[in-house]
Amino acid sequence: MPDQDPDRLDRIEQDAAEIARIAGAEIETALGRGFAVAYKDSGPESFRDPVSEVDHDVERIVRAKLAEDYPGHDVIGEESPERPGLGEDWAWAIDPIDGTSNFVNGLPLFAATIGVLHRGVPMAGAVWCSATHALRPGVYSARRGSGLSFDGIPYRNPPNPAVRRRLAGVPDLADPASLPFDGRKTGSAALECALVAAGLLQGARFKPLNLWDVAGGVCLALAAGCEVWIRTGGGWQRFERFEPMSRDGGAKDLRDWRGEMILGSREAADAMRRL
Ligand code: IPD
Ligand code: CA
Ligand code: CA
Repeated sequence: MPDQDPDRLDRIEQDAAEIARIAGAEIETALGRGFAVAYKDSGPESFRDPVSEVDHDVERIVRAKLAEDYPGHDVIGEESPERPGLGEDWAWAIDPIDGTSNFVNGLPLFAATIGVLHRGVPMAGAVWCSATHALRPGVYSARRGSGLSFDGIPYRNPPNPAVRRRLAGVPDLADPASLPFDGRKTGSAALECALVAAGLLQGARFKPLNLWDVAGGVCLALAAGCEVWIRTGGGWQRFERFEPMSRDGGAKDLRDWRGEMILGSREAADAMRRL
């Protein structure tokens, strides 16, 4: 059974939120200056997977902070293979910039995301978002057993009952009328998870993603009472935990987790599983 001591989880949520805030501040500062951009992919389909020096800088800063504050914990980050606590029960899954294509193009829709897992179960999450319900950057956070917070304050933003047609983050639909929502895609899975948790989107469906893209956002969505579903090979299943996987037939590792995901209200999750 995961460690569920509420005081300990409160502390972890606050620390994750503080680290997400530091990451966001670094990203904001970097926007004011030039930065190098490289591409991870090559070949005819190239230039679709950018990485900037800011991605690397932010991951370095986050890792340094975690090494100080949680030296026994594992860290799984997009930009570095380093595993300080490989095999430990606690793992911090981090994506220093989610939505890098948006970021390098100056489109203000991106996030810095942190998910804290205990044996693969999301225990706390913090997502710094460039765009929020408050019309400014901020951090949505949660821990297992608590509600959603925004910048450290319990989040409350009741929907306007006059709105009859709401929004969901869905990939391109052959038949838009097949869903009772208007579709939106932001280019940042972590931002979209946070917007679902905040109730601004009723749900989101994602093509296969990596652990660090969604570990933080899943925790927010669960805390907000959303359903979360995954598909990692077979059919859709209710999400319980991230399971270690193997991409090359070798030993299973949480870092290799990859899957499709749906999160949202029951109505949205039902509708999106039928797409
Ligand atoms: C990407 C974003 C995007 C998703 C891609 C991810 P990155 O992350 O989450 O929404 O569609 O699959 O790779 O590369 O910007 O960190
Ligand atoms: Ca990502
Ligand atoms: Ca990234």
